[in-house]
Amino acid sequence: MASSSPLQLLPRGLPAAALLLLLLLVLAPAADALACSSQNITNSTLYSTCLDLPTLSASLHFSYDRANSSAAVAFVAAPPKGEDGWVAWALNPTATGMFGAQALIAFRDAGVMTVKTYNITSTTVRESPISFETWDRATEYNSADGTMRIYAKIKVPAGDPAKLNQVWQVGSSVTNSVPDAHAMAAENLGAKRTLDLVAGTGRSPAPAPTLVPAPVPTLVPAPAPTLVPAPAPTLVPDPPSGVSRIGEGSNGAFLVLSFAFLVSSFFGFY
Ligand SMILES: *[C@@H]1O[C@H](CO)[C@@H](O)[C@H](O)[C@H]1NC(C)=O
Ligand SMILES: *[C@@H]1O[C@H](CO)[C@@H](O)[C@H](O)[C@H]1NC(C)=O
Ligand SMILES: *[C@@H]1O[C@H](CO)[C@@H](O)[C@H](O)[C@H]1NC(C)=O
Ligand SMILES: *[C@@H]1O[C@H](CO)[C@@H](O)[C@H](O)[C@H]1NC(C)=O
Repeated sequence: MASSSPLQLLPRGLPAAALLLLLLLVLAPAADALACSSQNITNSTLYSTCLDLPTLSASLHFSYDRANSSAAVAFVAAPPKGEDGWVAWALNPTATGMFGAQALIAFRDAGVMTVKTYNITSTTVRESPISFETWDRATEYNSADGTMRIYAKIKVPAGDPAKLNQVWQVGSSVTNSVPDAHAMAAENLGAKRTLDLVAGTGRSPAPAPTLVPAPVPTLVPAPAPTLVPAPAPTLVPDPPSGVSRIGEGSNGAFLVLSFAFLVSSFFGFY
């Protein structure tokens, strides 16, 4: 039995098709379902723009008020295990990651959905004031689609409103009113991007680049052709919608089944 694990055997006879499928599966978390258009958010007319964020199936609806440098935001994401979890949206005035993030975190606290502010300084979060003003905060859990929503108006932190450090996150549990640590999957660790509030006002014709500063190849939700080796084009799903749903629903199931089939074919020939 020494070398009988399928994962050890696979590379020896792995056909190109299976490699492609593996590649697509690895890339799957990069591009989640495009949810902006289907979300039924409260007071939707407050928000002129919506971005589907590149990880965690999260979306940000927003409007930017240049006159007084404020913004209305509605963040939407689904906690991994439903309504006992939490969702978070943050701007980080001092760095690109989680530490230093000035966060709004929503969860059910003693039965009531609530949203609180957190100055993130360690993996154990503690409610605290944050460095910019927020008002009209609200939150809700939508049982129809399993998402939690954070609504707020914010005074945009000093600096370039087209280059804000945005961070978001989801977690599956809350203990004694404290959100527990999130998972450490690539999707979680990659949940940060530059946010261009100005593009949302309509001045910039191309909001797309703000979603893809392209630091980490596996997280870039670029169209499939640039990510997939050329040899077997017939195996590549239609870009970008095909790739965007890999790992979810029927397409994900199809890929997993295809992969299982390839593995079993391989053993058949072995
Ligand atoms: C959207 O929300 C409104 C008001 O909350 C509700 O009447 C409507 O049924 C919802 N639509 C969907 C598709 O969830
Ligand atoms: C929606 O708008 C109403 C009326 O302005 C306001 O009372 C309510 O707090 C708003 N809700 C959210 C979630 O923004
Ligand atoms: C900015 O202006 C809008 C209306 O133009 C107002 O609703 C909002 O409260 C103002 N925000 C600040 C921080 O003054
Ligand atoms: C957040 O925490 C850091 C580190 O303790 C501190 O330097 C900073 O002043 C805090 N920010 C706010 C808004 O409290």
